[in-house]
Amino acid sequence: MPLNTQNIVILAIESSCDETSAAVIYNGKMLSNIVASQIIHEQHGGVVPELASRAHQQDIVRVVNAAIVEAKIQKNELSAIAFTRGPGLLGSLLVGTSFAKAFALGLDIPLIEINHMQAHVLAHFIDEPKPNFPFLCLTVSGGHTQIVLVKSPLDMEVLGETADDAVGEAFDKAAKMLGLGYPGGPKIDQHATLGNPAAFEFPISEMPGYSFSFSGVKTSLLYFIQKHGQEFVTERLNDICASYQQTLITTLVRKIRKAAKELKIKELAIAGGVSANKGLRKALQIEAEKQRWSLYIPDFQYCTDNAGMIAMAAHFKYIEKEFSHQQVSPMPRFQI
Ligand code: KG4
Ligand code: ZN
Repeated sequence: MPLNTQNIVILAIESSCDETSAAVIYNGKMLSNIVASQIIHEQHGGVVPELASRAHQQDIVRVVNAAIVEAKIQKNELSAIAFTRGPGLLGSLLVGTSFAKAFALGLDIPLIEINHMQAHVLAHFIDEPKPNFPFLCLTVSGGHTQIVLVKSPLDMEVLGETADDAVGEAFDKAAKMLGLGYPGGPKIDQHATLGNPAAFEFPISEMPGYSFSFSGVKTSLLYFIQKHGQEFVTERLNDICASYQQTLITTLVRKIRKAAKELKIKELAIAGGVSANKGLRKALQIEAEKQRWSLYIPDFQYCTDNAGMIAMAAHFKYIEKEFSHQQVSPMPRFQI
């Protein structure tokens, strides 16, 4: 098949969890980024994998069409189709993978598999200012908490990650315990802005190196709720959210500070759904001023799951001609 390296137009599909998303990128510039969030999970207090796969199946054609229409391109102008191969929920990944394979086959153009965690990091290359290599990225999402050394767009090394729950899970599970519903991160964030972060104390885990652990703090919140009772929790909800969130933020800031010092890197970035957290953004901005870091925080639309970041990663892979075979299948535990 002929490769067009003058005009690289890529359609990207993201379906790893509970967002069905499609984006079109033209020579590295985002033309569209459509995200359909699945509201069905709200009534279940968390993502139900079976329902997620079905919702992807129902939404994918509509979302892809919307991305193509908004980008004002024709399908025959596409250079490649990209998709999230993993990590994520198998059934959900299968929907995006199969759709992308069929689309690429139909148009006889290359297929590009993308690692979702790598894409979260590469979201930083969608808008200005872009980080300089090498930089450190704190990737914080619903399933991962990682400190990543980014040497070049496609060369990344995970220096440390969580031994148990991801920080996004620590937000979501706490919100569930506090009766705030799903997804919990944004809800705790909202209440936290109205509360006192020093009102209560929760334990900060001490983990070796650049590892994290968030299961202890989550359990301590459970004991706190059991000890004080529902009435107290309702009365002091804002202070509880602010204090709990502060504990998570302090844990993250300590580790990224340690990594920056030890590796002598002053280019720092955050990525993933939890990077939308207002408290974390502010805490890192304060730390960046103190440590004289150049800090890169993505636009809100590129923090949580979106196909724009998949498209950006695919642009880099297209330049390197890193294409996939039609035999490719999803990898729910795909490592960077
Ligand atoms: O990156 P993402 O959209 O999906 C995964 O790849 O997991 O991240 C979702 C996570 C959820 O745990 C959600 O609660 C959290 O990001 N999140 C937040 C905020 N917005 C989303 N956590 C804290 N504060 C927020 N504002
Ligand atoms: Zn994600």
